[in-house]
Amino acid sequence: MKGRTPPTVWANDHIQIIDQTLLPTEVKIIEIRNAAQAVDAIQRLAIRGAPALGAFGSLALVVALDEVQPSSLAEATSRLEQCRTLIGDARPTAVNLRWAVDRVIDRATNSASDLASLRTALIREAHAVAAEDEAACNEIGRLGHELLREASVIGTHCNAGRLATAGTGTALAPMYAKAEAGEPLHVLASETRPLLQGARLTAWELDDAGIDVTVVPDGAMASTVLSGQVDAYIVGADRIAANGDAANKIGTVGHALASREAGIPFYVAAPTSTIDIGLASGSHIEIEQRDAVEVHEIRGSRLTPKGVAASNPAFDVTPNHLITAIITEAGVLRAPFKDSIAEAVSRVRGS
Ligand code: MRU
Repeated sequence: MKGRTPPTVWANDHIQIIDQTLLPTEVKIIEIRNAAQAVDAIQRLAIRGAPALGAFGSLALVVALDEVQPSSLAEATSRLEQCRTLIGDARPTAVNLRWAVDRVIDRATNSASDLASLRTALIREAHAVAAEDEAACNEIGRLGHELLREASVIGTHCNAGRLATAGTGTALAPMYAKAEAGEPLHVLASETRPLLQGARLTAWELDDAGIDVTVVPDGAMASTVLSGQVDAYIVGADRIAANGDAANKIGTVGHALASREAGIPFYVAAPTSTIDIGLASGSHIEIEQRDAVEVHEIRGSRLTPKGVAASNPAFDVTPNHLITAIITEAGVLRAPFKDSIAEAVSRVRGS
């Protein structure tokens, strides 16, 4: 079952991932054997989606350690410290990546007494990050399903599904739950220019699961929503500030505005690992600026006139007042988000 392949798999001495840049044309598994390959995979979006980046970045620490063949615990610890930024900061917006890398390094180095126990602890912690994400997806799916019971036409943006997490997804988890329950469901996936995660990835994985999906050009989504054809909108997130402002794929804020205007709910679904409680508001979230070539070209074919400039911010921030609720594994959080988020985070992480 092609769509059920997890995005990141540990194979004893290396990592295997689907190269998501090639989907849906080609399902190619690539191997990651060192830190440079891991950083390259993250930066060119062979692996992507906030929680999947956390799971992948955690395992990448193991290959990065093996690569240098450390001869002492001190050498190994210093290599991991180097990887904290090398891998943890390979992309800046999705907080799950740095969160997971910090967590795995801190827990493994605190518990290890020698080189062998450090490596064992790294693998154990990396697997724990993935297992917890899988469980979070299940709970988000269950809670989102309850909220979306009456909705049969649901809009989403980018890809926040199996390909973006270690489980069934965040925004797409409730869709899988609805489909499993036999409820009527038609998903509208906005194509998500410039890298087309909606058209290529969301359409691929939902279709593979037998879920009815229609790809809609980004520019056609607002009028589709305003004409009353959509019951609810649900998206993932890359970083959520303490006040509920949520960074997600560029274009998300336009869908939130259209949803507000049409009077339909706009949900953000994300594990609590996506919450950056240290950031007071979304204005502090670093937005990744990607190479203009991604706007100028599609798979090597030039679209724009030579010499014309292009801007390529990868994410935008949806202000909290446009968000109906944030669906997390720790519950459905509602305004005032400052309070509901603080309470959920302290429950999950301890205060
Ligand atoms: O640039 P990408 O493809 O990594 O962006 C991904 C998104 O914006 C997703 O919506 C987000 O990471 C949530 S994934 C569960």
